[in-house]
Amino acid sequence: MSPTLIGQPITRLDGGLKVTGTATYAAEFQRPKLAYGALIQSEIANGRIVKIDVSAAKSASGVVGILTRENAPRFKPYPDNLTKNGAPGESRVPLQDDDVYWVGQHLGVVIAETFEQATHAASLVRVQYDAKPPLVSLADVSPVQPEKFIGRERLQAKRGDVNSALVTAAHKIEAVYSTPIENHNPIETTSTTAEWEMSDRLLIHESTRGIKQLQKIVANAFGLPPENVRIVCKFIGGAFGSKGFQWSHTLLAAAAARLVQRPVKITFTRPQMFDSAGQRAHTEQRFSLGADEAGKLVALRHATTTHCSPVSEYTEPCGNMSRMLYSCPNVEVSHQLVRLNLTTPCPMRAPGEAPGVFALECALDELAHKADVDPVDFRLRNYAESNEYENKPWSNKKLRECYQRGAEKFGWSKRNKKTGSIRAPDGSQIGFGMATAIYPAGQQKAGATAILNTDGTVTVRSATHEIGTGTYTAMSQFAADTLGIPIEKVRFELGDSQFPEAPNNGGSWLISSVAPAVMGACRELKKKVVDLAGNWPNDSTQLANLFSRSGQEQIQAEFNSEPNKEEREKFSFFSYGALFVEVHVDLLGQVRVKRVVGVYDTGRMINPRLARSQIVGGVLFGISTALMEGTIPDEKTGRIVNPNLADYHVAVHADTPEFDIDFINEPDPHMPDLGARGIGEIGIVGAPAAVANAVFNATGRRVRDLPITPDRLI
Ligand code: MOS
Repeated sequence: MSPTLIGQPITRLDGGLKVTGTATYAAEFQRPKLAYGALIQSEIANGRIVKIDVSAAKSASGVVGILTRENAPRFKPYPDNLTKNGAPGESRVPLQDDDVYWVGQHLGVVIAETFEQATHAASLVRVQYDAKPPLVSLADVSPVQPEKFIGRERLQAKRGDVNSALVTAAHKIEAVYSTPIENHNPIETTSTTAEWEMSDRLLIHESTRGIKQLQKIVANAFGLPPENVRIVCKFIGGAFGSKGFQWSHTLLAAAAARLVQRPVKITFTRPQMFDSAGQRAHTEQRFSLGADEAGKLVALRHATTTHCSPVSEYTEPCGNMSRMLYSCPNVEVSHQLVRLNLTTPCPMRAPGEAPGVFALECALDELAHKADVDPVDFRLRNYAESNEYENKPWSNKKLRECYQRGAEKFGWSKRNKKTGSIRAPDGSQIGFGMATAIYPAGQQKAGATAILNTDGTVTVRSATHEIGTGTYTAMSQFAADTLGIPIEKVRFELGDSQFPEAPNNGGSWLISSVAPAVMGACRELKKKVVDLAGNWPNDSTQLANLFSRSGQEQIQAEFNSEPNKEEREKFSFFSYGALFVEVHVDLLGQVRVKRVVGVYDTGRMINPRLARSQIVGGVLFGISTALMEGTIPDEKTGRIVNPNLADYHVAVHADTPEFDIDFINEPDPHMPDLGARGIGEIGIVGAPAAVANAVFNATGRRVRDLPITPDRLI
């Protein structure tokens, strides 16, 4: 038996393809007779279309067709389970009515021989509207109480009596935190290429992290059996939560392809990433916190107001971690939703946790400061030994160790609790801040196939995704490890809806969901082979004997895995972390994060190189959130005024601090065979709060509204 591959820092198996430009992304598939689509988009935020005049566009050079409501197919409505109860997507299929809900809404497609011709012709389309003033700000409309988040989690929760506890609390704070609209800005913009192979068979190359979901959506809309729609996506150039939901461009590309009887490609421009691919909604979060003399929390109220478009119920679930991250007898968490004329929001990396834990961890820092207790000590005094919201024990929680190891590595004891007391030689103020990170450790059912080929290699397949997190590499590790063969002999394939079903790539559950299926399929394959041959073939003679005995070209096994229901009901599964940062704030109010120490408990380590990369990326994303990102809608027109990377700032290499990322690496005993919990999203959680808390320590300024730009500090 070879030493285990699990836990090894294997380099990305697809790294070579990526750095040589040979990894093929959705927009790069060339098809014979390919035509290009440019979206016709609404210029108003609220109202109705009176008339779309396409005459000038029609006669522009290269135009081969124009799709609008007039000649659009009658799409069947989206299935309820994808639209109700705050599911991440829109309830309204495109081009079936004249209503306009936001600037940028898709009103049609101009199809031409080249992308440039299509774009030019789309600019010639004249739309007449019956416009109404748009609702753009949270204060514009009275809110409703949404019930659920993505069909399952309740958004309103209450235990004990917060008001009475606040009356007698020795220390309390009341504060409002806000986070702006943020947009997903992966390097790869969304792209789809749709092609009718026959009148009832559709092939779609799409940048999607939900190939099976998209297959069902498209099949449903066109009234086709799902197997007639094939979705292919071999690489995703990042998504951060976008590329998972039923935005209308896929249906429009398919309808356009049918209209012109040619393959049609629609690739979003950067500005379209701001109005056509989801966003994180603006949040306002009111906190009331109270603690007793001993610094023990007695009251916590977290009330969120956020927004959605008129055609969805998606609600950024800011308060969900506040229900259980700390021990507290009196807790109230609520969410209010207003419908605005802004594009439909959807999950963005750590949906809810990212803005919600920002507010929670800042509020905790404020209360610790008021009670004159060290922030780490304050968190230890309020350590939750069980999940008090679900009334369940944790599956495994090493958060205490994360605080302790992190504080030690960082040199937290050198922090001066007096704010604004340390200066660097250049006059910058230096501050230390910390925050807790937490993220649910979900698990879904998944399937995989393992195939032994005549050359002795093994192909493993699952309809999962490579979003940049290292799926090809990690799954090959599991397959090779289970089979006891070198990783070079394994080929893991993903991103094809014809493979066994796997869940959407989201919720940080890819490894914990798909790895059990991959291991299961490999175990079954090994058993089959050993039953046939007595052992796994070690050389070409044994291999030839095996295949002549089996009489087949391939030996194949399948496996469908499911989360262990009993364990899932008994325990509460989360990943945890403690994050420490050092910031320097210069005389102009510019904040630089210099140093980050993060210690995480994400269960068993699968691949430390990939894991570190996820956390570093996530924390940097959090720094970006803390200091730079913010989408600005114009209050009068509802137009986004900064839909580009010149005006919407994201952290770049020059903003990258020194990182020391460490893992507890203790297998979760209640995740049989695997022990690994999610790692994809926890990195961003807590990072904005750690930065804001460090800025407070550096300057004495408590900035409660993100991003912390210089104007908010001076
Ligand atoms: Mo996450 S945005 O739930 O993949």
